[in-house]
Amino acid sequence: MPTALVTGPTAGIGRAFAEKLALEGYDLVLVARDEARLKEVAADITRQHGVECEVLAADLTEPDALARVEQRFQSGPIEVLVNNAGFGNKKPFWANPVEVEEKQLDLLVRVVLRLTHAAVLPMIERGSGAVINVSSVSGYLQRNVYSAHKAWVTSFSAGLAAELHSKGVAVMALAPGFVHTEFHDRMEMDKSVIPSFLWLNAEDLVDEAWQDLMRGKPVSVPSRRYKLIVAATRFIPRTLITRVSTIGLDGRRSR
Ligand SMILES: NC(=O)c1ccc[n+]([C@@H]2O[C@H](COP(=O)([O-])OP(=O)(O)OC[C@H]3O[C@@H](n4cnc5c(N)ncnc54)[C@H](OP(=O)(O)O)[C@@H]3O)[C@@H](O)[C@H]2O)c1
Repeated sequence: MPTALVTGPTAGIGRAFAEKLALEGYDLVLVARDEARLKEVAADITRQHGVECEVLAADLTEPDALARVEQRFQSGPIEVLVNNAGFGNKKPFWANPVEVEEKQLDLLVRVVLRLTHAAVLPMIERGSGAVINVSSVSGYLQRNVYSAHKAWVTSFSAGLAAELHSKGVAVMALAPGFVHTEFHDRMEMDKSVIPSFLWLNAEDLVDEAWQDLMRGKPVSVPSRRYKLIVAATRFIPRTLITRVSTIGLDGRRSR
């Protein structure tokens, strides 16, 4: 059986990816901080889909833990990497301790860069493999620091996709809009300010993303409504995008 490694598979989008990959016949390597929860998810998935699940408890923002996960790409072939683990900050940049901002930069950017690097070298040698980097529609907006990190993920992944296409390795950025997961509860955001039609379901999102990967797309923006929003960002003046996209953020007001 081929093997896939998913970061952040204990909740939300990562959990949906773990289920989808198991359904597609992949054994799994599951990476997150909460070991007890990882083991529960692993047992659940093995029971439902009959695939093997390996658990790697790691805080990816800790260099030693990240190194352990990087080593996993050497110890046995990983055909699919899903760089998904992430978190948001409710407070604006200046109101957070700089260490909190650095942790977010590490998880959303540095970890994505390092794990992609560890994954693609053996994939290039084998001439096959895929990397999905979970980005965000926020990357097309000027919402906050998070937008900047996700803009990097999309740009990095699309560029790498073009470079690796001829080597048999697929790279895709997945840019979701608002998805029902634990993400907004963890950052204590008031979800009621987001209109209900903007919310996506994690399972549908992952199904569409998987189809886009199979079609060789470098960037996947699931759902018609978010495709329209992303298309509109190419024509709307940046100042207006900033005004609209900062609505609902703590400590800021649409001007
Ligand atoms: N939900 C949305 O509306 C939305 C929209 C666009 C993009 N995204 C992106 O989608 C990705 C997944 O988000 P989600 O909404 O599914 O979030 P979620 O439900 O909060 O799940 C986050 C996952 O990441 C893991 N994680 C968090 N910090 C970690 C760390 N330091 N080291 C290792 N694992 C860590 C968590 O497990 P532990 O706590 O056990 O570590 C959990 O499994 C993120 O990159 C996010 O930016 C989400």
